[in-house]
Amino acid sequence: MSEKKLWWRDGIIYQVYPRSFQDTTGDGIGDLRGIIQHLDYLKDLGIDGIWLSPINPSPDVDFGYDVSDYNAIDPKFGTLSDFYELLEQAHKRDIRIIMDLVLNHTSDQHQWFQESRKSKDNPYHDWYIWRDPAPGGKAPNNWTSMVGGSAWKYDASLGQYYYHMFFEQQPDVNWRNPQVYAAMLDVFRFWLEKGVDGFRLDIFNEYFKDEQFRDNPTRRGLHLRAFDRTSHVYDNSQPEMLSLLNDIRKLMDCYEDRYVVGETFLVNSQKARAYIGKDRLHAGFDYAYANSGFSARAFGKAIQDWDSLHGREAWPNYFLNNHDTSRSSTRYNAGQSDARLKLLATMHLTVRGTPYLYYGEEIGMRDINLTYKEIQDPVGKTFWPLYKGRDGCRSPMQWDAQPNAGFSTGSPWLRVNTDYPIRNVVNQQASSASLLAFYKALIQLRREHPALHKGTLEMHASGSDRLLAYWRAWNNEKLLVVLNFSNLLTTMPLPGDPSQKWTIIFNGNEPITSQVAEGKLHLPGYGLAILRVNTE
Ligand code: NOJ
Repeated sequence: MSEKKLWWRDGIIYQVYPRSFQDTTGDGIGDLRGIIQHLDYLKDLGIDGIWLSPINPSPDVDFGYDVSDYNAIDPKFGTLSDFYELLEQAHKRDIRIIMDLVLNHTSDQHQWFQESRKSKDNPYHDWYIWRDPAPGGKAPNNWTSMVGGSAWKYDASLGQYYYHMFFEQQPDVNWRNPQVYAAMLDVFRFWLEKGVDGFRLDIFNEYFKDEQFRDNPTRRGLHLRAFDRTSHVYDNSQPEMLSLLNDIRKLMDCYEDRYVVGETFLVNSQKARAYIGKDRLHAGFDYAYANSGFSARAFGKAIQDWDSLHGREAWPNYFLNNHDTSRSSTRYNAGQSDARLKLLATMHLTVRGTPYLYYGEEIGMRDINLTYKEIQDPVGKTFWPLYKGRDGCRSPMQWDAQPNAGFSTGSPWLRVNTDYPIRNVVNQQASSASLLAFYKALIQLRREHPALHKGTLEMHASGSDRLLAYWRAWNNEKLLVVLNFSNLLTTMPLPGDPSQKWTIIFNGNEPITSQVAEGKLHLPGYGLAILRVNTE
C-alpha cells in the first residue's frame, strides 16, 4: 500500500443532497452557493471529499435521478460558473468533488429520447431499448420495473414498447449501441476536463441487459411486489459490464488522482466485489453493512465479509446512510439519546475502509414522518401506505434555531424536522458533549493515527451480540477498538499478560466512560474504547 496520502482511500467522503443542504435564493430548494457557504463547516468537520447527488438539469420525477442534459447544471441549483466556484473553493480547502452520474437511464425529456420516440428510422431511435410487442400485443418479456408493474411501456404511435427499470419517465438507454457508449464516455470526459475529482455511478451494473431479452425465472413463495416474483438474472449484471468498467478506468487514469465508485444494484457482496479492482472501479457500495441489525455479531460479520472480499488488492468502503435509506438514527431506534449513534460512528470511522457520511448524520438528524399529502418522492406515492418512500431521510439540514432551521428563508420543498430548535449545528457546536463534537474529535484522531485510516483490520471478538472488537495496525502501531452494543455494563478481558498496561486513547464524550482495571476493560452501556498497549 502506498505511503502517499490518497484522498479517497485515507479520507472521509460526505454526501450532500443539494436540494436539502442550504438554500440561498429563498425558493425553498438548496443550491450550489449554499454548499459553498458551508465549505468551512465541512473543512472543520474534517472531511476530504463531497459526493453531490445529481445537479444536472432534471424534471425531477425522481429528484435529479432523471437527467435531461448531462452537460449542464440545473438552473435551480445555480450556473456553471457557480459550479466552477464550488470546485475552486473546495479545492482550496483540500476537499474533492464527486459528481453523481446517472447513466443507466435518462429523463424522457432528454433530447435523445425525444428524438428516439419520433420514428423507427430516427438516428436516435436505437439509443433506447425499443422492442416489438410479443404475440397478442403483449409486453416483450416478463421483466418488471422496480417501482411496480411491467418494465415495458407501450408507445402507440410507434407500435413498440420501450424499457424502463424505474418510472416510465426514466427510459433506459441502449448501452449496446456504440454511439451511446461513446456519448456516455464523453460525459465523463466533459466533467473531468472541468476539474471534477470523481464520480459516483448510479446503478451501473444495470447498464447492460440480456442481449436475447430472455424471461427472468419465477421465484417461489409469496411476494408482495411483482418485482420480487422473479429472479433478476437477465435484466442486470451482464458480463459486458466488465469491459466497459475497464474503459471507464482507463479514461479516469488519464487524469491525476481521480476516483470512481459505483452503486451496485440487485447483487450480493461477492458480485459487487467483482466490479472493483485496478482495471475496474476504485470502490463499490454494498448493502450488507447498512442492512445489519443493531448487534455486534451482525456488524462484525458484515465487516469481516466485506473486508476479506477486498483482501490486500482493493479498498473497502462503508455507508450507514444515504438518500435512499431511512437514517441510521431512526433505523436503530436511537431515541432521544445519541449514545447508540456515538457507538456506530466509532465503528464507522475506525474500520478499514472509506467512511461515507450523509449530510446531517454528524448531528444525528432523525427521519421526518410524513402524511400522504406531504410526500414528494414518487416511490412513496406509489407504495403508500406500505412504504412511505425516501423523503424521511431527505429533510432540510438543521443549521440553527432560526425559522426553517436556517435552511431557507422561503418555504422548504420538504418539511424541516420539528426537533430543529434543539437538534442543530449551532447548538451542537456549543456543547462539548454533543454528537458533532464527538465526530470532530474522532475524525481528528483518525487523521493522526495511520493505523486507523490505512491500517490492516483483524477481528478480535465479534461472536456475541454485545461486543465487537478489532485490531487496526500500521507499521509499529497497533490499536484495539472495542464497542459495546448493549445498554448494560460489559467487561472484556484484555488480551496478553494481565499485568500489561493499556492506554485508552479515545472513549468518547459521554459522562460515564470505559475504564481498564486488572487486565479487563469495563464498558458502560453503549460504551467504547480505542486502546493501545503501553510499551514503556
Ligand atoms: C439509485 C438512486 O440512488 C435512487 O435514488 C434512484 O431513484 C435510482 N437509482 C434510479 O436512478
